Amino acid sequence: MKIVVLAGGTSTERDVSLSSGSKIYRALKTKGHQVILLDVYLGYESPEPVTEKLFDLDVDWAKDIQAVSAEHPDLSHLKELRHDGGKSMFGPNVLALCDMADIVFLGLHGANGEDGRIQAAFDLMGIPYTGTGYLSSALAMDKHLSKQFFRNAGIPTPAGITLKCGEKADPAFIPYPCMVKTACGGSSVGTYRVDRPEDLQKALDDAYTFGDDVIVEQFISGREFSVGVIDGKALPVIEIAPLEGFYDYKNKYQPGSTIETCPADLSPELTEEMQRYAEMAFEALNMRSYARMDFMMDTSDNSIYCLEANTLPGMTPTSLLPQEAAVLGMSFEDLCEKLIEVSLRQN
Ligand SMILES: Nc1ncnc2c1ncn2[C@@H]1O[C@H](COP(=O)(O)OP(=O)(O)O)[C@@H](O)[C@H]1O
Ligand SMILES: [Mg+2]
Repeated sequence: MKIVVLAGGTSTERDVSLSSGSKIYRALKTKGHQVILLDVYLGYESPEPVTEKLFDLDVDWAKDIQAVSAEHPDLSHLKELRHDGGKSMFGPNVLALCDMADIVFLGLHGANGEDGRIQAAFDLMGIPYTGTGYLSSALAMDKHLSKQFFRNAGIPTPAGITLKCGEKADPAFIPYPCMVKTACGGSSVGTYRVDRPEDLQKALDDAYTFGDDVIVEQFISGREFSVGVIDGKALPVIEIAPLEGFYDYKNKYQPGSTIETCPADLSPELTEEMQRYAEMAFEALNMRSYARMDFMMDTSDNSIYCLEANTLPGMTPTSLLPQEAAVLGMSFEDLCEKLIEVSLRQN
């Protein structure tokens, strides 16, 4: 199959996406596919018009991709790397090459990739892609909206409020400790735990630098889990236990900073309950193909809360969803092919 793996882009999760993309690229190559890895924003510069021959070129498209560093990347210099001025989100030749592929594997995370806009453009252009469609992507990207959909569907989610940029928080509605998070972020960028009222404003100001809407929600003290869903069916539950603090950017991507256990050490009843909520969330947001839902469990009474849905979750062999698939005996390479198969069926 001719496949373009799209990664990178302009979101705060750019580096994580390049890491996912290079791993997906290698896995699909191992499976014998003709694969091109492209940075969606930087594209492929070529003096000649691109042709399908590029899919047969004997080059390592992932050779320059580095490991994810401890801090999310500074994106201010990215535009300077584009010789065409960088007006379009799609870099040189990206659309032409995607159009030649049998499917585009989306290794993107965060804004301009996980938020549905690329999916919508591809729908209009008739380009098949992996993962769910534009509408569910957009709903899942916005934590304020997805929490409303969760509540309507009877899926528990932490109580909280959403503030618009500049809006003053009514102290009566702020529970302490609370989590302050940008509504449309990811990878815990713009996410802060606040224990005291005097620290709230600073967290809000920081969160607003990432977007106009900010969620302030009850901090759930206890254990953290995640559940992947493929084609409507939940995978085994994984537990995430950072050695220090919460599951922030550093704990997510620096090896050794978090203990991940799959299948999670949970009773069959609690496992089933969480898997059911994951499947309900998949349905509530009208998803297809695959996704991954994040959960907290309050250990004082074992109540489960769905934090959010990820429509293009991390896809390196050690990412959460691939670890869950591995418990079912599915290798990373097989998983990548499986996601293509379910996506093609539903495109
Ligand atoms: N209400 C909450 N209670 C406790 N921890 C939370 C809460 N909301 C978020 N967190 C922590 O912050 C991390 C990131 O939050 P999440 O809602 O999953 O957003 P994202 O992963 O998109 O950045 C979670 O993995 C969890 O560790
Ligand atoms: Mg999350």
